[in-house]
Amino acid sequence: MATAGAETNEGYFVIATTRYDTLITGGTVIDGTGAPGARADVGVAEGRIVAVGDLGAATAERAIDASGLVVAPGFIDVHTHDDNLLLTAPEMAPKASQGVTTVIAGNCGVSLAPLVLSERPPPPLDLLGEGYRFPRFAAYVETLEAAPAATNAAFLVGHATLRVGAMDDLDRPADDGEIAAMRAGLGEALDAGAVGLSTGLFYPPARAAPTSEIVALAALLKPAGGLYTTHMRNENSAVIEAIEETLEIGRRADVPVVISHHKVQGKANFGRTRETLALIEAARASQRVALDVYPYIASSTVLMEAPADQAMRVLVTWSEAVPEAAGRDLDDLAADWGLDRTETIARLRPAGAVYFAMDEDDVRRVLGYARAMIGSDGLPHDTRPHPRLWGAFARVLGHYARDVGLFSLAEAVHRMTGLPAAEFGLVDRGAVAPGNWADLTLFDPATIIDRATFADPIRPAAGIVQVLVNGEPIWRDGAATGARPGRVLRRQAA
Ligand code: ZN
Ligand code: CU
Repeated sequence: MATAGAETNEGYFVIATTRYDTLITGGTVIDGTGAPGARADVGVAEGRIVAVGDLGAATAERAIDASGLVVAPGFIDVHTHDDNLLLTAPEMAPKASQGVTTVIAGNCGVSLAPLVLSERPPPPLDLLGEGYRFPRFAAYVETLEAAPAATNAAFLVGHATLRVGAMDDLDRPADDGEIAAMRAGLGEALDAGAVGLSTGLFYPPARAAPTSEIVALAALLKPAGGLYTTHMRNENSAVIEAIEETLEIGRRADVPVVISHHKVQGKANFGRTRETLALIEAARASQRVALDVYPYIASSTVLMEAPADQAMRVLVTWSEAVPEAAGRDLDDLAADWGLDRTETIARLRPAGAVYFAMDEDDVRRVLGYARAMIGSDGLPHDTRPHPRLWGAFARVLGHYARDVGLFSLAEAVHRMTGLPAAEFGLVDRGAVAPGNWADLTLFDPATIIDRATFADPIRPAAGIVQVLVNGEPIWRDGAATGARPGRVLRRQAA
């Protein structure tokens, strides 16, 4: 246990030599604020960072030599579908291996709670696998807290999840009674610590919901200090209208909004991130808007015709009906079977896919936007997942920052630490600073890189040397340590 000072009857005095639980020496600290790296040691005690500076005289239970490494705040993956992974694979290897120490789950309108289902979940709720068994959000949180995961987690409540629980016909707007039921579920979740509401208005279970239905739910967020995130109704030809709807919901509910995995899809729309980013930036003068992005030109979700129509190429990531189709090209399957795309999709479903439908310049433009947070959008239950699951963070650091030079390493770190901590109200995380929780990622700036590819997607990143959550190592030298110090994070006033 470290003592930086002690209260006595004589008053406050400083003890010159200090003992820490963990002392990380000789590294370059990139502190998460966007400031350039600087040589400093980091002292950790009782799960928190207690000193940053020249701590050469100190001793510790556990010494970590960080010579040649960057010491950064643990990364915050703001866009995940890890609700079920936290329970079923609590070492959280796809995330811990990339230096992620906190995940925001419940994105795109899909959260594991509150919902009880006895049959197969309707797409896209099946992206979380099976396991919808929590009638209240608090029951999910209690289950996780009783058997914690390696990483911290904060939770959004999914509008589609609420809808499936409250409505027997999803192809129409919710009526007053159904809205009341959804508000009750959301309110209970916010009381239990959820940080906001997510929608996936693009998806069939939510498509029929008018703007007013979302506003009726989002109205609960402001008193709870929550925010609104959205997989918008449209990310191709009607993307501007979709952003305008998002901004309107934010204004009417008076809450911050986060546009999920921002992109434009379809050849006809290439280049339109110039328009979308200008619209978002202009809106920031009068309301809080943020966005997240993953560093790839392909998206991934359940297999559907609409995104396939926008894509140059479609890869099957899983199929319930034809499991051996995972990893294969949709058009190759269509040729093998002598079917058209529509018939092929029908034969494969329920299924998932990767859609190559973006332009590299658009991806770089969104990544380059100063307010863009990094979110993997990884799908951990897919047989052959999009490589973003295992690669997104290392790819931003190694490929886009170091190799392409899109931004500095310090800026890249900021977009995955300090910026998301501020946007999501995680006040004592996201920076290497005394008093903060000791979520720390040690990586080699010369070798960090994603190794997961579309052809070989389940490969841990290179260059992540050690990852600590609340002061405990969860990942070291290429393997999970087995420690599970993760906590459920509740929103605090930003
Ligand atoms: Zn989404
Ligand atoms: Cu998502």
